[in-house]
Parts: sequence; C-alpha cells; structure tokens
Amino acid sequence: MRNTRAYISSVGMYVPEKCITNEELARTVETSDEWIRERTGIRERRIVANGECNSDLSVKAIERCLEKAGVSSEEIDLIIVPTVTPDMMFPSTACVIQEKLGASKAWGFDLSGACSGFLYALSVGAQFVENGHYKKVVVVGTDVMSSIIDPQDRATCVLFGDGAGAVLLEPSENDGIGLLDFILRCDGSGGKHLNMPAGGSSMPASQETVEKRLHYVQQDGRSVFKFAVKYMAEVSKQILERNGVDVEQVKLFVPHQANLRIINSTANRLKLRNDQVAINIDRYANTTSATIPIGLCEYHEAGKIEKGDLVLLASFGAGFTWGSVLLRWGI
Ligand code: ACO
Repeated sequence: MRNTRAYISSVGMYVPEKCITNEELARTVETSDEWIRERTGIRERRIVANGECNSDLSVKAIERCLEKAGVSSEEIDLIIVPTVTPDMMFPSTACVIQEKLGASKAWGFDLSGACSGFLYALSVGAQFVENGHYKKVVVVGTDVMSSIIDPQDRATCVLFGDGAGAVLLEPSENDGIGLLDFILRCDGSGGKHLNMPAGGSSMPASQETVEKRLHYVQQDGRSVFKFAVKYMAEVSKQILERNGVDVEQVKLFVPHQANLRIINSTANRLKLRNDQVAINIDRYANTTSATIPIGLCEYHEAGKIEKGDLVLLASFGAGFTWGSVLLRWGI
C-alpha cells in the first residue's frame, strides 16, 4: 500500500562549456554538418575539458538543484547516479559525489541502465520516499560519453555529448502531485546491437583490446533506431492507457534524446502535437542518462511546465533497456 507519493521538488543541470559544432567534427572525420543534421537533428554538443569528469558535472548539477530548493547537501539522505561513464569502476561515482558535495549523512550508489538509467533511478529513488524511509533523495543522470566514444568512428562520434541533470525527490503533500506510475523493461537479447565490449570481467583490458578499439561504444545504429521507436511508443501508450490519460491531457512528453527522427516517429505514433514534445538534441546530442533531466530542467525554467501539468517521460537504451514514467509536475 502506498504511504506517500514522491515528487520532483527541484531540478538542476550542468553542461560543460566547451561546445563542438558539426563543422568542427567534419574537420576530423569524414562527415558533414548537413549529414549530421538531416540524419540526427544534432547541431552541436558539449564536451568536458581536460581533467573534467563525471562527478564534476554531477556535483554542479546537484548544487544548482539544491540551491533552487533551498536545501543543503547535509540534508540529503540518498544519492543515486545512473551512468555508463563513472569516474572509475570503483569506488562508485555516488561516493565521490557524496564527498565532493559534503553530503555527510547520505549514502548512494551507481545504477547501470544506459539511456534508461535516469528512469530506472527515478523509480528506485521514489520507492524510498514513498515507503517513508527518506525525505530527500537526489537522482543525478550524468554521462561523459566523450570518454567512451571513438573519435575516429564517424558512425558514433557525431551522436553523443556530455552533461548532467539532477532532480530532488521529496514526499508530496498533495496526493495528486508526483510520480503517478512507471513501467520499466529490459531485454538482454538486444545487448549485441549496442555495447562497449572491453574493460569488464568478460574482456579485461589488455594491449590487444586497446589496439582493437574495444573500449569504445559499438553499435548497429539501424537496429537500435527500429527498436527505440517501437518500444518507446509501446510503453508510453501502455502507461497512458492504464492510468486513463488521453494523449491530449499530456502537457509535455520528454523522450530520451538519441535522434530527432526517433523522437518524431515516436511522437507521431503517440499522436502528440509538436508543442507537446521536448527537444534539445540539437544543442546537446545524446547525453545518455542526462537527456531527460536536462530536458525537464530547461522546459521548467522556460515556464513550459507548471504545477499540476501531466508530464510523460520515455527512454530507450543499451541492454536493451526502456521505460516510461508518468508524473504530475509539482513545482
Ligand atoms: N557522416 C556521414 N556519413 C555517415 C556517418 C556520418 N557521421 N555515419 C554513417 N554514415 C554513412 C554510413 O557509412 C552509410 O554509408 P553507406 O550507405 O555507404 O554504407 C550511410 O551513412 C547510412 O548509414 P546508416 O547507418 O544506414 O544511417 P542511418 O540513417 O541509419 O543513421 C544513425 C545512422 C544516425 C546512427 C541512426 O541509425 C541512429 O540514430 N540510430 C540510433 C542510435 C541510438 O539511438 N543510439 C543510442 C545509443 S545510447 C546508449 O544507450 C548508450
């Protein structure tokens, strides 16, 4: 039985200052601004400076989130960090963030869900608030994709960027406000289409793995594209239906930003109007677990979502992993 509903009480984001345009990429690999824009919708992406890492972006996004809420880092109970690009294999990036933030009473953990990591983590974090165990849970979706992308592979290096988005989850005083429902899925048979083969226990790092460039993202873009549209649309329809919500009632759909064509095809299947769909892939490319919280932050700051609005989130990523979350915005 539900005790209390969790709601997003604040949201913050941070992207690195360094911006790489398509034209700049076209100077290093055989591609063009036109190809990238037409096939993906991306115009530019942010990339970390030398020495800047996942926890640096995370801490800045969390600090902005907490500042808006008027909450101090000592008040945080739990920090969940969905990411595929941690600072290092261990300790967890959550521990590094805890220390950098000075979140003295918080514990935390990293969560591996690739591009669905944020929705997985949001749903997990909400459980701790709903069962009454914690009052302040931070979920920070952060990825430094530039650390695992082959700069010589034009099929992947144009697609990704670096960034972080953080939300604070707190108990909602109004039962109608907050996370209403979630559907989370995975299908491991999709793993062959999108992965980073080396560096884990199945293929430990060696000179050979480095020479074969196996520490970089490998993907079959067409398969990923096809499944992304099918599953994001399916799971979004399902969550609307089972909550008796008509698509017209959705104020904003915030899909994972992997490719503008994936977003548009999914939105068409759901019969959403353009003004109902959050898009910022043109400026940030695919920041993996950060795309959705960055989208929430920007659209909220622009006044495009307000207290009481229904917001639908959907994601798809490596695994395959996918899911949807339905929430009523509370700030
Ligand atoms: N510039 C110019 N040409 C290119 C580039 C490039 N950057 N990349 C590929 N091409 C070429 C290919 O070599 C191919 O040439 P060929 O026909 O001579 O062989 C041609 O363009 C078409 O390639 P396709 O792969 O068929 O192009 P498509 O229209 O499918 O677009 C893309 C490729 C953009 C990768 C698309 O398939 C896509 O976005 N897929 C989904 C990717 C995705 O969402 N990944 C999520 C990963 S997130 C995570 O979970 C970590």
